[in-house]
Amino acid sequence: MSVLFQEKTLPNGNTIKNRFFKSAMSETLASKTGVPTPTLINLYKKWAQGGAGILVTGNVMVDSNHIGEPGNVVLESASHLEKFKAWARAGKVNDTEIWMQLNHPGKQSPKSLTKQPVSPSGVAMKGSIAKGFNQSRALHEVEIKAIVQQFVTSAVLAKEAGFTGVQIHAAHGYLVNQFLSPIENQRTDKYGGSIQNRMRVLVEIYEGIRTQLGEEFNIGLKLNSEDFKVGGFSKEDFVDVAKKLNELKIDLIEISGGNYEDPKMAGSDKETVPYFISYASLLKKEVSTPIVVTGGFRSVVSMEDAITQNNTDFIGMARPFVVSPNIVNYIYKNTFSDIKLPRLTTGIKAMDKTLGPVLANSYYNQQMKRIGNNKSVVIKENAWYPLLSSLSKHGKVAVTRLRE
Ligand SMILES: Cc1cc2nc3c(=O)[nH]c(=O)nc-3n(C[C@H](O)[C@H](O)[C@H](O)COP(=O)(O)O)c2cc1C
Repeated sequence: MSVLFQEKTLPNGNTIKNRFFKSAMSETLASKTGVPTPTLINLYKKWAQGGAGILVTGNVMVDSNHIGEPGNVVLESASHLEKFKAWARAGKVNDTEIWMQLNHPGKQSPKSLTKQPVSPSGVAMKGSIAKGFNQSRALHEVEIKAIVQQFVTSAVLAKEAGFTGVQIHAAHGYLVNQFLSPIENQRTDKYGGSIQNRMRVLVEIYEGIRTQLGEEFNIGLKLNSEDFKVGGFSKEDFVDVAKKLNELKIDLIEISGGNYEDPKMAGSDKETVPYFISYASLLKKEVSTPIVVTGGFRSVVSMEDAITQNNTDFIGMARPFVVSPNIVNYIYKNTFSDIKLPRLTTGIKAMDKTLGPVLANSYYNQQMKRIGNNKSVVIKENAWYPLLSSLSKHGKVAVTRLRE
């Protein structure tokens, strides 16, 4: 049997049925008030039937006043918990784990959604996307404590609803990632400065959740490999954070990279190998926490190599699960070798360049909705339809969001 179908036991003793990890993809399928809809629930049933070991939900916001996009799920109170219970039940079909990704966007919340975004130090957004965002302000220490508590509250509610785990989103330029980065975090209090201080928010969130939910509950982390900027979050910082969370017995660390200004998580058409694999291989030598690496897995050979060469414990994939929701079953039956993602284009080069990630996200959002509505996935490279549909649904905010 392929190594991809070997079980793996996490530090808390929980055994995962195989090595396939469906990474978070913001589905934008919640109701206007952030409650899971039947389409969202059915999407997870389909994915659970598709064979993955762990499904991570798209980012769920811990505060309804700070969301990343229209259609985000929000979990901040027990009202509508029955809808969350239905979502968790759907994701557990077929012995699948369903972990809820918890997030706060910090400064990466567009103008149309947040008048006053918050961040560690109020560093301005840069680049062509900056005009879509209001200037953030620095958080006070007491507000930081309150945000830590919001993550803990959401995790407690997720467990109550039946989710089998949570994943703290500390990647992709969102608030926890902003705290980790010395470029974004210029604080002089105990939350800024050394890497020990910059990771304090993350550690407090993790410890808060662990204390409330116990040793056996699955807690994971999504972490950026580095900032790829002089003076930014470095490879050494990345290893230090992983070592600390390893010491605190986190169950799984997923590796990614990038943010809205520089969306490295999406890779490029030129890349033919999983793009953060060298960081995974580095961590495998430094920590005993099981590792997931996400981004760029397209062939069974590359997946098997990554496991047999001990570069990672799990194979993280996002877009392939949309293009082919049954991908894991196909791999199991040997009826799959590699996957090609559609190269979305408007036919206008300049537009493709500026709107690249938006076009892609609109397309993937549209296809997730189709799967949830029991329709087949449409493999198309023409980006106009998803773009226009997204514009009609969300208005101008559709082109300012770069959700990852
Ligand atoms: C439509 C879409 C939404 C995404 N939303 C999230 C998200 O909510 N949280 C997150 O951590 N990553 C998100 N991502 C990033 C993916 O988890 C993943 O890191 C990235 O797509 C690279 O993996 P892939 O090459 O297998 O697609 C999103 C990606 C897409 C395409």
